[in-house]
Amino acid sequence: MHEVDPKVAFHLLKPERVVFVISINEKFQPNGLVAARCVVLSGNPPHMAVSLGTEYNTSKLIKKSKEFVISVANKSLKKYILLFGKKSGKTIDKFFESKVRTTPSKFLKTPMLKDATFNFECKLVRQFEIGTSTVFVGKVLAAYHNKKRKILFNLGKKFKEI
Ligand SMILES: Cc1cc2nc3c(=O)[nH]c(=O)nc-3n(C[C@H](O)[C@H](O)[C@H](O)COP(=O)(O)O)c2cc1C
Repeated sequence: MHEVDPKVAFHLLKPERVVFVISINEKFQPNGLVAARCVVLSGNPPHMAVSLGTEYNTSKLIKKSKEFVISVANKSLKKYILLFGKKSGKTIDKFFESKVRTTPSKFLKTPMLKDATFNFECKLVRQFEIGTSTVFVGKVLAAYHNKKRKILFNLGKKFKEI
């Protein structure tokens, strides 16, 4: 056992599940990003949290709309990771550019990713800043599962379905 910089340890803490976090602007246009920092906080009542860069466009949208969708990825969504995980919605309409398929949510105005393995409709119930990130806690109003799909993980140098 060697002592390491926590940042180095965090970088090596893989595989990480890949999710897309979606929100909407005041014109109901969606934006989203790729996130690894996504956890279940409580089962009953169901809550999840995502930790997003405070300056990211998605964070700004969630603060205003008070809602977000967590779409758990599979290999069919791998081709969108570069766009959603590297480009900012401040300069580009990722949904228009990618033509990624969406489907309406039941309780939210934010759409879900049609081809995800799981979708979670989250109503924002709490938020707090930590370092350069904002943690968004959502009450899960509805969850959906496509049983034919697996889950995509980031192994470090490549992505793999498990
Ligand atoms: C594999 C992967 C995992 C990522 N995980 C996170 C994360 O957990 N939190 C975060 O804020 N950004 C994460 N990012 C970076 C954002 O997806 C990226 O900065 C995005 O372009 C922000 O978009 P936005 O400004 O439109 O919201 C990740 C990117 C990749 C490729």
